[in-house]
Amino acid sequence: MTSESAAVHWRSFSSREALLQQLATDLVDYANRTLAAQAAFDIVLAGGETPRSLYARLPHARTDWARWQVWFGDERCVPAGDPRRNDSMARAAWLDHVAIPAAQIHALDDAARYTQALAAVPCFDLVLLGLGEDGHTASLFPGHPWGDSSNAPAVLRVTDAPKPPRERLTLSAARLSASRAAWVLAWGENKRHALQRWQAGELLPVTAIRPAAGTVVYWCAD
Ligand code: 6PG
Repeated sequence: MTSESAAVHWRSFSSREALLQQLATDLVDYANRTLAAQAAFDIVLAGGETPRSLYARLPHARTDWARWQVWFGDERCVPAGDPRRNDSMARAAWLDHVAIPAAQIHALDDAARYTQALAAVPCFDLVLLGLGEDGHTASLFPGHPWGDSSNAPAVLRVTDAPKPPRERLTLSAARLSASRAAWVLAWGENKRHALQRWQAGELLPVTAIRPAAGTVVYWCAD
């Protein structure tokens, strides 16, 4: 992979272990540097197996958890506590084991309420994104609205997602772009094609998310 293209920094690793170690270190460093300069660290979490592997590394991290604010990039519309939910996964792997106050973990259950809560955070510090083989990210799918215009709503309702469950809520590409940084976590040969399409300049849901300071792609083929 090339090392640099406009506002996207590609970081490839020889193993998942190496990727996860670097990613966990980078995340905690980034959070702690942010917290040295401001009161809170606003992070948006992704679902999927790659993010889950990162989350499982975080319970022992040294950081001031009391100042983390946790948001979700998308959520499946199933009842609270259902293991299919992204927040259930993140809680089990990470959030239940650290001292982030419950009120600072913002479950995505209602588009209007989330839009209102998000008004307090004009710019996230970090958006974590997974990547699907078709270039989807969060619950923004090819052929569906991504909300990438400047006046797009912050939260989109998805009623016919190509992956189950069909009903989801997702932050729009415009809202996810309102962040200091985005990190895309991708591993597996099956993601290579989507990354090549991205490098070739194709417009995909993941490429529609463009934070001012750019995107970092953590990639491992194995
Ligand atoms: C979903 C999944 C999905 C996932 C990507 C990447 O919403 O159905 O969460 O979108 O994030 O397919 O998944 P992996 O990291 O598990 O490969």
